[in-house]
Amino acid sequence: MDSDENEYSWKVIFVTMCWEAFKMGVKLNDTVTWVGKIDWELRKFHGEEYSTQRGSSYNAYLVRDEKTVLIDTVWAPYDQEFVSKLKQEIDLKEIDYIVANHGEVDHSGSLAELLREIPDTPIYCTQNAVKSIKGQYHQDWNFKTVKTGDKLSLGSKELVFIEMAMLHWPDSMATFLTGDNILFSNDAFGQHYASEMMYNDLVDQAELYQEALKYYANILAPFSKLADNKLKEISRMNLPIKMICPSHGIIWRDNPLQIVETYSKWADNYQENQITIIYDTMWNGTRRMAESIAEGIRQTDPAVVVKLYNMGKADNTAVIGEVFKSKAILVGSSTINKGVLSSIAAILEEIHGMSFKNKKAAAFGSYGWSGESPKIIAARLTESGFTVVNDGLKMLWNPDEQALEECKDFGREFIAKL
Ligand SMILES: Cc1cc2nc3c(=O)[nH]c(=O)nc-3n(C[C@H](O)[C@H](O)[C@H](O)COP(=O)(O)O)c2cc1C
Ligand SMILES: [Fe+2]
Ligand SMILES: [Fe+2]
Repeated sequence: MDSDENEYSWKVIFVTMCWEAFKMGVKLNDTVTWVGKIDWELRKFHGEEYSTQRGSSYNAYLVRDEKTVLIDTVWAPYDQEFVSKLKQEIDLKEIDYIVANHGEVDHSGSLAELLREIPDTPIYCTQNAVKSIKGQYHQDWNFKTVKTGDKLSLGSKELVFIEMAMLHWPDSMATFLTGDNILFSNDAFGQHYASEMMYNDLVDQAELYQEALKYYANILAPFSKLADNKLKEISRMNLPIKMICPSHGIIWRDNPLQIVETYSKWADNYQENQITIIYDTMWNGTRRMAESIAEGIRQTDPAVVVKLYNMGKADNTAVIGEVFKSKAILVGSSTINKGVLSSIAAILEEIHGMSFKNKKAAAFGSYGWSGESPKIIAARLTESGFTVVNDGLKMLWNPDEQALEECKDFGREFIAKL
């Protein structure tokens, strides 16, 4: 081969590689191609509620056997991109079925755009998903409702449906592909974690588990009892799971059951040897109380992990993850207009929704004249299922050295009560 020919063949290889890279799909094996969207830009999810510092992905999968199935779609802002890239992967008319594991807009958001082209394609989903999808899109699409154990033959392989009610919506479902033994788990086992690496064995494990835990703590923790029961039910089904493909984040292919085992631990009143101190302050009195309480705790038990978060500055989603890990929390606020600071009201509202179990708590705060805040906080924590272990600590104005010593004592007594 002379040098011209050599250069030509390198060009062909280069162009082919670029074309492959441009095509949307990532082949997971001979049957399954990932056709989702990696969203590196996403920083807030569920409106402004959930922070996604590492972005996310909306995973959709194309399963090709004698029949071809699309499992889930992507979030609405990417619907046109999704459909046009899907066309590069397959002639849309070749899609025999759609599976909608969950009606939430991050997975159903491209259905309207897709069904404009293939309007009669049957959509397999739960009865509750018909309600949630119709409730959002107001379209009479060709729904086929399924229940746990129902099967859909694809030729040599079949899909087995598993209802996952309240994990995390009434409509949630997982789909198992026989032959390849892949569980398409939708939101369960997901993470808001953008990565081009696709698979759990190729990413930083600390990042991965931090995101998986944050996701569980913020989205699934309220349903831990149901999650525990469901995990037991799935294990009784004896599915030979080889890969878990969630609808967000990376795919679990290396020892996929590790995340199932981890979920079993998280669902069972999980806690670490950690105390989280959450506070907000106007003039630093409550912050100085928080720091002295932490000092008292650390002096008494150097092994316990103590973390402090000023909720005026900290990220609520991350803090919910920290509360999830904690065996106890302390919540402090100065009194403002007979109440608590708004960031504390907000995080207490989130904590209340999480239905955490088996955790202890206490309240504190600085005040000027009426000093209601510790009482308000303690009452809310009790309503949220925490065992409040004392009457709380309030300090008039900005604490002096002696008052800070009292705060340390408060920390020592708190840890003694755990
Ligand atoms: C706008 C505002 C409203 C306040 N309302 C109350 C109140 O209703 N009851 C009270 O005891 N103290 C009230 N205070 C006083 C603070 O609680 C007091 O200054 C406290 O030491 C502040 O603690 P911090 O330094 O942690 O912000 C108020 C202070 C401000 C600035
Ligand atoms: Fe969801
Ligand atoms: Fe989702």
